[in-house]
Amino acid sequence: MSARSIVVTGAASGIGLATVGRLLRDGWHVVAVDREGEALARSAGQHDAGAKLTTRTLDVTDASGIAALAETCAQAPVPLRGLVNCAGIPANARFFDTTAEQMRRLYEVNVVGAFALSQALAPVMTAAGGGAIVHIASVSGIKGNLGRSAYGASKGALVTLTKIMAVELASERIRVNAVAPGPIETPMVREAHTAATREEWHRTVPMRRYGTPEEIAEAVAFLCDEARASYVTGQILAVDGGFTAAGLMA
Ligand code: NAI
Repeated sequence: MSARSIVVTGAASGIGLATVGRLLRDGWHVVAVDREGEALARSAGQHDAGAKLTTRTLDVTDASGIAALAETCAQAPVPLRGLVNCAGIPANARFFDTTAEQMRRLYEVNVVGAFALSQALAPVMTAAGGGAIVHIASVSGIKGNLGRSAYGASKGALVTLTKIMAVELASERIRVNAVAPGPIETPMVREAHTAATREEWHRTVPMRRYGTPEEIAEAVAFLCDEARASYVTGQILAVDGGFTAAGLMA
């Protein structure tokens, strides 16, 4: 297979970190992007020494940084054929406790960040012959989970954006899909989930456990792979132990 490269955001931690590892094993050249430069440098050390990995410190809300990244990708010798928008921030507040500022901040990172990167990198992919974009949404963008006014609304926006982009970018030879993870053991979740939250997830997930970042990375790798997912676009793949499928559980 000829060399191809892919940009992964949120690459220093959790799902993004596991995704970088998985894509490297699939033979991708990976541009790992995160706003936390030191953590990104540390995380790069976890991947195989011979892997085709470059890192780039970038906040996905930084428009000029995004333009510079697109320019770098356009000039790079290995053609850009993929983008995984994994950078995201959480919020857990009841509706009446959610501030407009919080709502704007979550949209800025979780929605506008993914939108702006996609808009900047899609033409680079098209010039290289096409590619795949995967957004990391959430089951909270599909179901009405308590305390997720800002977070769930931002992920719901990504779900709809996925479908619209799939329609508009099909002619650009770009497939656009999303993965909607259920509860996944990552640093974000270890910080945010109390014992009571964990109990509630175990009660409502049919498989009765949290997922791993590697289980999400597998789904992302599939959707990115032109050989395996060549006719898949506009889909929201829930990787959630059955959470979104479930109804009565007892
Ligand atoms: P994490 O906190 O372990 O990793 C997120 C990474 O994104 C961090 O390295 C952080 O520095 C980076 N990041 C945050 N804001 C950024 C920005 N503005 N620019 C560049 N990088 C930025 O989180 P985790 O759990 O791995 O989450 C990854 C994605 O998966 C997020 O979009 C999250 O909403 C989503 N997700 C996670 C679930 C979970 O249970 N862990 C469930 C559903 C969705």
